[in-house]
Amino acid sequence: MREPVGLLLVGCGRISGAHVAALAGQEKQIRLVGVVDSDAETAGRMAAFHGVAGFVDLAEGLAAPGVDAVLIASPNSLHAAQAAMALAAGKHVLVEKPLAETGAQARELAATAERRGLVLAAGHTYRHNAAVSKLVDMMPQWGRLRAVEVSSCVFWDGPQAPWWATRQPEEGLIISLFAPHSLDFVQLVMGADDPLRVQVEAARWQPGWQGEDEAMILLGYPGRRMASVHISYNQASVFDRKVLHFAGGVAEIEDGEVLKWNGEVLVAPPEGVLANPRAMGGRKLGHFFAQQLLGFAAAVRGEEHRLPTGHDAARLIDLIDRVKAAARRTCADAIDPDFAA
Ligand SMILES: NC(=O)c1ccc[n+]([C@@H]2O[C@H](COP(=O)([O-])OP(=O)(O)OC[C@H]3O[C@@H](n4cnc5c(N)ncnc54)[C@H](O)[C@@H]3O)[C@@H](O)[C@H]2O)c1
Repeated sequence: MREPVGLLLVGCGRISGAHVAALAGQEKQIRLVGVVDSDAETAGRMAAFHGVAGFVDLAEGLAAPGVDAVLIASPNSLHAAQAAMALAAGKHVLVEKPLAETGAQARELAATAERRGLVLAAGHTYRHNAAVSKLVDMMPQWGRLRAVEVSSCVFWDGPQAPWWATRQPEEGLIISLFAPHSLDFVQLVMGADDPLRVQVEAARWQPGWQGEDEAMILLGYPGRRMASVHISYNQASVFDRKVLHFAGGVAEIEDGEVLKWNGEVLVAPPEGVLANPRAMGGRKLGHFFAQQLLGFAAAVRGEEHRLPTGHDAARLIDLIDRVKAAARRTCADAIDPDFAA
């Protein structure tokens, strides 16, 4: 009988609850064996609640018995260093998006993982739902893909975690925190190609942070294919839509969950998932996190999975570097008013 993958959770903040909840019922595949948080009270509370060992020090957590793999859900700026430590300790790693802050860091992680024969996976949660999986499986039958439009607009009234407020404009706010989901989708459907051209408009509407909170990204791919991505933290009525123009017709994913092909519904989620898709929290996302963890366990076992890993995962961070650089070039004055070129 094969053993379940023993998982160490690093960072017990907002999103950690979704991951831990998604482990329920998956104990034969993957199970929590320990938690790490630099805040001793948080680590202790989480450890006691789940009946596992708790640590404030990552090195101690990595040395604990039964740890095969690590899930990193700490603030973005820590991802690369913590993933490097976990790989050095011989552990497989799933890193919450973004994998790293720079493409160079991400590529170094991918090279280390490859050298050591370990899984380095990125947590692009939104690709793990039935609508996206079906779209990817059907695409070869729909003819040549010409253009992709993604809109992903939500409302966050100021920083959702303290570190959002202190991120500098050049580090990126929504481009680093939210764009990874949409850009991962674009990369998923564009396959092995990276864009030839990247153009960006970005702006800051809210005073509670320093980085951009609204952006439009235009990507030109080889073969005259193109993609547009609109992301916002300022849209009171949540709007989430993907439109793909193929030679054979138009595919749409509405509210992240409903796949249509030329207007015919191919995938709809079970009742209750889209309670009120126009409101924050009006979509139940637990099934994404569960599929992602099962996929990660499969990757660790060398089985088929849908997670972006290694160099593919790093390619996205290279793209985010390009998006950030384009925003600095074209519209820094709309983000940080004191900007002087
Ligand atoms: N997949 C998604 O849909 C999704 C959604 C939200 C957040 N995220 C990602 O998850 C990550 C965490 O975001 P969050 O909103 O939960 O942040 P958060 O600030 O609520 O949680 C981070 C936790 O990490 C802990 N921490 C800080 N320094 C640490 C260290 N050195 N070692 C261990 N723990 C440390 C903090 O004490 C805190 O408990 C981010 O990278 C974010 O981009 C992903």
